[in-house]
Amino acid sequence: MPEFESIFTLEATQLKFGDGSAEELGWELKRLGLTSVILVTDPALHAWGLVERIEAIIAKAGVKFARFEDIRVEPTLESLNKAVDFCAQHRAEGFVALGGGSTIDTAKIMNLIAVHGGAIMDYVNPPIGGGKKPPSPLMPLICLPTTSGSGSEATTVAILDIPELHVKTGISHRYMRPTLAIVDPDLARSTPGGVTASAGLDVLCHAIESYISKPYNERPKPASPDERPPYQGSNPVADIWSLKAIEFAGQFLARAVADGDDTEARGTMMLGATMAGIGFGTAGVHIPHSIAYPIAGMKHVFHAQGYARNYGFVPHGYSVIVSSPAAFRYTYDAAPAKHIQAAELLRGHKIINPDAESLPSALIDMMKAIGAPSGIAELGYGEADFPEIIAGALKQQRLLAGAPKAVNAKVLETILAESLYNWK
Ligand SMILES: [Fe+2]
Repeated sequence: MPEFESIFTLEATQLKFGDGSAEELGWELKRLGLTSVILVTDPALHAWGLVERIEAIIAKAGVKFARFEDIRVEPTLESLNKAVDFCAQHRAEGFVALGGGSTIDTAKIMNLIAVHGGAIMDYVNPPIGGGKKPPSPLMPLICLPTTSGSGSEATTVAILDIPELHVKTGISHRYMRPTLAIVDPDLARSTPGGVTASAGLDVLCHAIESYISKPYNERPKPASPDERPPYQGSNPVADIWSLKAIEFAGQFLARAVADGDDTEARGTMMLGATMAGIGFGTAGVHIPHSIAYPIAGMKHVFHAQGYARNYGFVPHGYSVIVSSPAAFRYTYDAAPAKHIQAAELLRGHKIINPDAESLPSALIDMMKAIGAPSGIAELGYGEADFPEIIAGALKQQRLLAGAPKAVNAKVLETILAESLYNWK
């Protein structure tokens, strides 16, 4: 008889939210005693004057900075190595990240290697990488997200693409968690609607996957506190964050996509993204995210609206959402009441005669409403790709361990077949 876990933890990033909160960055840098930082940012933000605005705030606080902006959306090992090289040339006492999840993840990895050295692959989650753990805390990292999606400002994870292996994977450790997230709705005003759509669907998956993940006390007890994974399974504290994020997405996501100047909708989605980040950073994501990694990593032929890039790629939110209706159809009988509750929060009203289709259909209606791709076929995949997608998803055992039902190749094949076209 295996012994079950009896403990869960909540280790949340400090959060400062609200209009004008970015103006307090200087005060925060001084509070942390920083005199020099590396500013990691997305060059697309120059068009909106955001980089200049944040640099002026840092300079006014008397803090020296060096700017790194050679960011790739969905970072690769190659783009991250460039970022790490930059740190070797510019010593600093901390980091400020201004941008979306890719920017924040790049800053996390720069911080890790700047402090502890070694190769990035040494730290990547096994079996793909060496699984090395940073032996001591990193430098302070303040994040100012400009999209409402990844929740990376609130999590211990950095995701990277390894095109040679056709796989996306990550580095996760509690020391990778940012020191502070400053979430200012005004910073999201410039984000194109297509980016807000993909990012918002990522939020929704973070929240729902976390809420229905296998409860922490049904998972095996770790041998020591050091072995307790960052993703611990659903628990009463993570659930609060996840449920609120689902409710926010139901109320505000379509509005946030339609109108960048709707700062109430954009701001609430940003808050929802961070809240979902705290929820999934504790409970964990599973089936849709495990499938998303090979889907984003294998083919680079999709061109998404709103992303000013000259290379094809699948934005993370789309790679996740496409398999979510089928995934939650599969998991329904593990926890029917939780699936129905998620569907009702998303729809914003009670569902009469709810069933296994309630949540998939609520998700599909949301996808249609905000212009998401209809399934993995639209992203360039067909049945012939299933074996490779399945092999890639099965490599994400760290995630699949959190699914509320067992997942094997046969289950994944059914989910993929249902996900080719969620509608026609
Ligand atoms: Fe995600």
